[in-house]
Amino acid sequence: MAKVLLTLQVNGERHTVAAEPHHTLLEVLREEMGLTGTKHGCELGECGACTVLVDGAPVLSCLTLPTELEGAEITTVEGLANGPELHPLQTAFAEEAAAQCGYCTPGMLLSAKALLDRNAAPSREEMAQAIAGNLCRCTGYTAIYEAIERAAAVMRNVPGGAGAEPLRRERPSFRSRTGAQLP
Ligand code: FES
Ligand code: FES
Repeated sequence: MAKVLLTLQVNGERHTVAAEPHHTLLEVLREEMGLTGTKHGCELGECGACTVLVDGAPVLSCLTLPTELEGAEITTVEGLANGPELHPLQTAFAEEAAAQCGYCTPGMLLSAKALLDRNAAPSREEMAQAIAGNLCRCTGYTAIYEAIERAAAVMRNVPGGAGAEPLRRERPSFRSRTGAQLP
């Protein structure tokens, strides 16, 4: 099938790429632009691993055709940092150990960014709603909520933010699938 030329605005830069007309935004980002931070999960709209922002709103890139997005601003996880300076959410996820295998993390970060951009101090319920479409098999979500709270505090410049100790001092130990205690 003949490829089509697409011009997309991604992470503040215009890119013109040749892509199969039936390829999804996820495929174009990963395969044509080399932006592999956006993860390939279920491809059914169920896991949220492929979440990116389109004009600031979370979108499942596995269900989105890029031909519909010419003129829109697309943000992937590669666009979160400002040069060498990580986004407060990225720092908080690292400090709060909110990523374990990390597969859900890019999508989770972008859903959390969309939340904090419209709500500087979200409640746990609001956080749960914001990341309801982002599945995490590893963390149990508590560390993710704590990381979002920490990032929100940093962004509001209040205690609990930059330079403070992680909000959660102790983490529960983990159990393997067989129930054995892991260190
Ligand atoms: S890969 Fe898009 S929702 Fe799972
Ligand atoms: S950290 Fe592994 S799926 Fe979320």
